Amino acid sequence: MSTPNEIERLRHQQGALADFGSFAFREDNLLAVLTEAARICAQSLDVTFAKICRYRPEEDDLFVVAGCGWRGGVVGKVVSRADETSTQGRAFVTGEPVILEDVSKNNSYALPPFYAEHAIVSTADVLIQSKCGGSWGVLEVDSTSVRKFDRHDVVFLTGFANVIAEAVVTSDRTVAMRDSIRAMTLLIAEKDVLLVEREKREKDMRELQSELLHVSRVNAMGQMTAAIAHELNQPLAAIANYIGAAKITLESADQPAARAVDAQGMIDKAQEQAIRAGEIIKKLRDMVEKRESVRSAENLEAVVREAMSIAMFGVVDSQIALSITVADALPAVQIDKVQIQQILFNLIRNSIEAMRDVKIRKLELTVGPGQPGFVDVTIRDSGIGMPADVVARLFLPFVTSKTDGMGLGLMICQTLAEANGGRLWRLDDNVPGTAFRFCLPVAIAPDYALPLVA
Ligand SMILES: Nc1ncnc2c1ncn2[C@@H]1O[C@H](COP(=O)(O)OP(=O)(O)OP(=O)(O)O)[C@@H](O)[C@H]1O
Ligand SMILES: [Mg+2]
Repeated sequence: MSTPNEIERLRHQQGALADFGSFAFREDNLLAVLTEAARICAQSLDVTFAKICRYRPEEDDLFVVAGCGWRGGVVGKVVSRADETSTQGRAFVTGEPVILEDVSKNNSYALPPFYAEHAIVSTADVLIQSKCGGSWGVLEVDSTSVRKFDRHDVVFLTGFANVIAEAVVTSDRTVAMRDSIRAMTLLIAEKDVLLVEREKREKDMRELQSELLHVSRVNAMGQMTAAIAHELNQPLAAIANYIGAAKITLESADQPAARAVDAQGMIDKAQEQAIRAGEIIKKLRDMVEKRESVRSAENLEAVVREAMSIAMFGVVDSQIALSITVADALPAVQIDKVQIQQILFNLIRNSIEAMRDVKIRKLELTVGPGQPGFVDVTIRDSGIGMPADVVARLFLPFVTSKTDGMGLGLMICQTLAEANGGRLWRLDDNVPGTAFRFCLPVAIAPDYALPLVA
């Protein structure tokens, strides 16, 4: 049967437990929670000292993390062994409350000197059971007078230890949550920085792109204007030659009928050239618009011979020894015929121009097998050879050694060879004169078409 005094004490202890519970719920600093636990605990049991020891697995000891009433040198300093040689060690190991009513009658435990220094007489220890399993530590109260810790005191202490264990879990969670929030905040900040950087980079890229587009458009316009003039100049010159020749032929008085037939042939040729000029304009427009150039299977020998006769027209009396050598049984090539004739035309014109001032004038065209899947065309002349400064800047636009040259012929040849799936290069084989070679792909399917390389 409890006395009114005892009932009042129990009520007071329960109130203290509830107060501590609500404090622990609000406070997320674990050290503050443990210190407050020690204070309330000591006050409620009317003792001078309380301490909370935390088990440290690595050291295998019990470390005083918080307490109340102690002088310096105990809290945050003292450790005791986590075994039965100390009161708290025994409570920790057995899980049972350990009560020592009078330390002077103690034979069981090796008490550290600070007990005597604080004049401690009675102690009580209960286990703080970890909520995650296992033991977390020990709650101890100490009095300076003989104190019988009764059943109610032990229940109170055990209840307190449970609330401490709860607070520890909450605090661990709070710390983990705070760490996650901190990490998340950092990530968000980093993401913001990255976003800003990306936006800036994208803006820079867009500006660069539009600048490049502008520059290349300006460049392309300049080059195309020159290229159009260059390409059209050749058929126009041929037309003028044919018409001029036809006129002279018709003006001649003798054999008018025969002359009329000759003139007719020349006018036909002029007409062909006019058609060719139209085709060139169409092709150049195709190049600008990046449309696909239509390629078909062609007999390369026929293409070469036709180009040769076009290019040689008007220069028949220049005493050039012409030779065309074609290997047997060559496969058809997949090309845009007009573009390949433009290549041949440009290369042959260059050769003729390079042989103007040399004595021996030889122009050799060779068509033969190249790398697997390709047919090679080689144009070799016995002209003056390429000036070293031109070789160094081969295929660049506007590189010319001629007063009337535009320096676009070779660049156009290279572009067209590549647009047809081939390649063009200069042969550097120490033979006097100059030689160029280009390869073209063998026809695979009748309607094989590749996009033009712009
Ligand atoms: N067969 C060749 N022999 C010697 N030099 C050549 C030969 N072919 C080209 N070259 C050199 O390369 C330069 C560039 O040739 P390219 O055909 O590109 O331009 P171009 O002939 O000067 O002018 P155009 O644009 O009217 O063709 C020429 O000016 C010339 O110096
Ligand atoms: Mg040229």
